[in-house]
Amino acid sequence: MVEKFYVTTPIYYPNDIPHIGHAYTTLAADVVARWNRLLGKDVFFLTGTDEHGKKIEQTALEKGKTPKEFVDELIPRFKEAWKKLNIKYDRFIRTTDKDHEKVVKEMLQKVYDKGDIYLGNYEGYYCTACEAYFTEKDLIEENGKLLCPIHKKEVELLKEKSYFFKLSKYQKQLLELYEKNPDFILPKKRRAEIINRVKEGLKDLSISRTSFDWGIKLPFDETHICYVWFDALFNYYSATRDPSKEKFWPADVHLIGKDIIWFHTVYWPAFLISAGIELPKTVFAHGWWTFDSEKISKSRGRVINVDELVSIAGVDSARYFLMRATPFGDDGDFSEKSLIEKHNNELANKLGNLVSRVAGLIEKNGVEKTENKLLEKLAINEIKEKMKNYELDKALNDIFAFIDECNEYIQEKKPWETKDKKVLYELADSIKAIAILLWPFIPETSEKIAKGFGFEIRDLEQINKPLENSNIKKGEILFRKIDLKQKYTQD
Ligand code: ME8
Ligand code: MG
Repeated sequence: MVEKFYVTTPIYYPNDIPHIGHAYTTLAADVVARWNRLLGKDVFFLTGTDEHGKKIEQTALEKGKTPKEFVDELIPRFKEAWKKLNIKYDRFIRTTDKDHEKVVKEMLQKVYDKGDIYLGNYEGYYCTACEAYFTEKDLIEENGKLLCPIHKKEVELLKEKSYFFKLSKYQKQLLELYEKNPDFILPKKRRAEIINRVKEGLKDLSISRTSFDWGIKLPFDETHICYVWFDALFNYYSATRDPSKEKFWPADVHLIGKDIIWFHTVYWPAFLISAGIELPKTVFAHGWWTFDSEKISKSRGRVINVDELVSIAGVDSARYFLMRATPFGDDGDFSEKSLIEKHNNELANKLGNLVSRVAGLIEKNGVEKTENKLLEKLAINEIKEKMKNYELDKALNDIFAFIDECNEYIQEKKPWETKDKKVLYELADSIKAIAILLWPFIPETSEKIAKGFGFEIRDLEQINKPLENSNIKKGEILFRKIDLKQKYTQD
């Protein structure tokens, strides 16, 4: 039986076009999905948009549109961005999709019937940008105003009748979950903080609103709409309710940014336990892309969008930079210059040169099939292990260490002098391995290499099957170097 693999991204608020932060998670999910396809698994990769709630309603209103009109115009921009980045998802879910709304209503009813929802009064500080309530101790006080710690925007004091979810009841079960499943929260360093906060105690969670109406109506009280996070989190599950997709639940990994780890590791498992649904295996929270140490975010003003990102040095260089520049899990400061440096020093000088030199020499001298001893230097098991642990940057390190080995081998064996066709074969066969391993990260480049070297990228097993083709072509240049001096001294 073929193993399944289900990976998700957050569903983003379509209140503006996606920026580098959204691109980052979606890209990481694409890398993970492609890697699991190479492993031969049946993969389901879900992304989408979070379309209900006050934030969207407000933004739409400011633009003089209904919320639905407003989001309908933005969704194509998300899909275009993902296409531009060569991201191949299996479904783009929208929380306004009928099948999703139906599942959310069923879940609300199920949790209500279980006795986990009751009517009460809510009073608290609300950040619309986060779509979340805060207690006073978590807020920042500045010039007599209370600000949200994430967006640094003023919060409002809200008072309304609201249905509550009995979150407090699940404290013990959640702590047990973290205890028994050390991989439920990754990277490991983020576990302790969640565990400590849960140990401090959980308050029941307000899960309905009456102050606006852009949302899913509660099935047991249509005067209330569902809190946007209850609605949103269930997207991961509702996307698997189609009979052909049922086998994918539970999710193998929810990839998210660390800003929303609490929602995914506390509310989400509590909702699922209450609804009697199996829990996802892992929630992996990566760090933030920053400009001068400040989170890149629309509500803070300074962003870089997908078009800008891709225009710097092309799609694969953007993909490579995001995956390589910072350990997956940590924050990273974005700079165009460091992207260009990686493009020049690693993609053009190391990978591009290796491929074009070897292809050029083979075009002139030909190859002769032999056992590829060079492949022994490839740390394939380490790479597999790192990919399994979502250490994406470290896996790339190992792949590039092998590229370095190949470049050293060329220098040492001097096939341009010796015309040694066996050495050239070893290099060509090693390039095949490199192209396959890099395919999740830089698919377009890998496919170009595969074309020139006459093979197709299917799975990891191919690495151990010797390259059969000997008609190797020096194709187009993979990466053109960008002159940094010229770029930064002229303006
Ligand atoms: O929170 N660096 O949507 P959102 C890295 N709708 N990643 C970043 C980032 C940055 N500077 N900025 C954004 C929501 N992200 C909810 C999610 S899920 C059931 C509902 C990425 O549009 C990162 O993945 O605010 C972060 O968690 C997500 O975008 C937040 O997107
Ligand atoms: Mg956000």
